[in-house]
Amino acid sequence: MPDVRRSHKFTVPCLIDNLVTLYPTSLLHRRIPGMEETNRQLAVYVKSLEETEPNAVDGTTNDGGFQTTTELLKRDHPALNIFKQHMKMAVHDYARTLVNQECSASPPTLEFATWGWGAILREGNTQGIHIHPYANISGVYYVAAPPAALETSRDGGKICFYDPRPRANMNQIPRQITRRRVTPMPGDMILFPSWLEHSVSAFHGPGERISIAFNAKLTTT
Ligand SMILES: [Fe+2]
Repeated sequence: MPDVRRSHKFTVPCLIDNLVTLYPTSLLHRRIPGMEETNRQLAVYVKSLEETEPNAVDGTTNDGGFQTTTELLKRDHPALNIFKQHMKMAVHDYARTLVNQECSASPPTLEFATWGWGAILREGNTQGIHIHPYANISGVYYVAAPPAALETSRDGGKICFYDPRPRANMNQIPRQITRRRVTPMPGDMILFPSWLEHSVSAFHGPGERISIAFNAKLTTT
């Protein structure tokens, strides 16, 4: 497209632009330092649940892996309790962002009910595209990641978030970004709107991808 500003036949007036961003989708990607020992204990704990309790993947998009029930956060375990504190803080912080972004006015207080579950994926296991019904805010915390999932050049083991605007893909601009992938770095927590579609592709090689997913249903007062 020729640059009309360079044309001698066109005088550019003093323009008043106001670029407006409508309906943004915000993710909170939080890195929590010093979680190595907590993660080690969480990995042992979730794997112990895998050995002693039924796999709760029925009705979920977890294909081939293990999943605890959604009652995980009701349990009392030292490492899990540390995680719960971080989760509550992150949900609170993200809720403020979300309310400021989505609502016409910010309520004086925000309360929320939370629930969560642990998941283990091994080589070849996947998590199909899904959303988290019945919640407003969802998130995932990474306890352990296999070497393949930490390779930045590959999709395997990464979480992918899809463009939530269905018609934005109608006539794609070359190299238009339609999904964002995030590396499951242990100690990282990602919060996102519960309606945002996401998935995890299979990785190949040794290791386990252990995560704790959670939901928060907000109640405003
Ligand atoms: Fe999910």
